[in-house]
Amino acid sequence: MQKRDFLVVRDFTAKEIRAVLDLAKDIKRDQARHSRALEGKELAMLFQKTSTRTRVSFEVAMHQLGGQAIFLDWRSTNFTLGGIEDEIRSLDRYVSAIMARVFKHADVEAMARAARVPVINGLSDAAHPCQALADLLTIEEKFPDTRKIKLVFTGDGTDNVCVSLIEACALLGVQLTVVAPKEFIPPSSVMEWLAKNNLGRKISVTQDIAAGVKDADVIYTDTFVSMGQESEGERRIKIMHPYQLNSEVVKRTGKSPFIMHCLPAHRDIEITSDVLDSDKSIIFDQAENRLHAQKALLLFLLRPGFGS
Ligand code: CP
Ligand code: NVA
Repeated sequence: MQKRDFLVVRDFTAKEIRAVLDLAKDIKRDQARHSRALEGKELAMLFQKTSTRTRVSFEVAMHQLGGQAIFLDWRSTNFTLGGIEDEIRSLDRYVSAIMARVFKHADVEAMARAARVPVINGLSDAAHPCQALADLLTIEEKFPDTRKIKLVFTGDGTDNVCVSLIEACALLGVQLTVVAPKEFIPPSSVMEWLAKNNLGRKISVTQDIAAGVKDADVIYTDTFVSMGQESEGERRIKIMHPYQLNSEVVKRTGKSPFIMHCLPAHRDIEITSDVLDSDKSIIFDQAENRLHAQKALLLFLLRPGFGS
């Protein structure tokens, strides 16, 4: 069987995403059940950037499924000396899968081409597909039918988290409005993919925050300055400030929307503390759901046909 990778959400079909989310729900309900499912399997976790949630949730996921995770800080490996291809072709002789967090998306693509084992994108400049799985799982816990809700992402439309959310919502039929300044609208590659696959019907992009957030059931934001963008931080924050998730924006929905953020948050920059800490915040459920969603993803990739 050909190995599968998960570099972007759209590497999976809608049916496959559905299956992973359903398995994640099962796993969350009965966390002891699959404790030996990945016995004898190892995951290498390569990090070019810092991480709390991705690193720990993958490591705990492997441990709780009976497997093992190996953390590799990029700077302490010989990826810094050798080419990606040679290093990956060595790594895949030891492990069953590789998860990598990289600056350039092309790096994780090169890894996937070189590896004989599945490669998972643990965040690149272009995508954060594991985050999108946890996000959809979190939203589905709040709404019996997510095809009937309106989700809004406000802030940086070029953001990796936003792009993966667009792909996941399009595949699962969730209505998503991205509210972003004209300088930071979602990349044309994702918009073209939507159009080409006739998936754009429920995805819209607007610069008008008041109109965009109206009737939102859920509002999501992420940092205005992603890892690697620090040198343009000041400019980005200035342009995106009117798209901050604050109580005024929440009021404009005319509803009492759930609040989402993938974390880490920069309080009072992209989201105000009162909103982040409000009763409607499901931000820490999102963080927890990284664990359950990634367990399902690992089983899907490492034990094809698991549960069917
Ligand atoms: N949301 C997320 O990926 O968190 P970390 O950067 O801490 O892994
Ligand atoms: N967009 C953020 C997400 C962090 C989880 C970043 O890339 O830094």
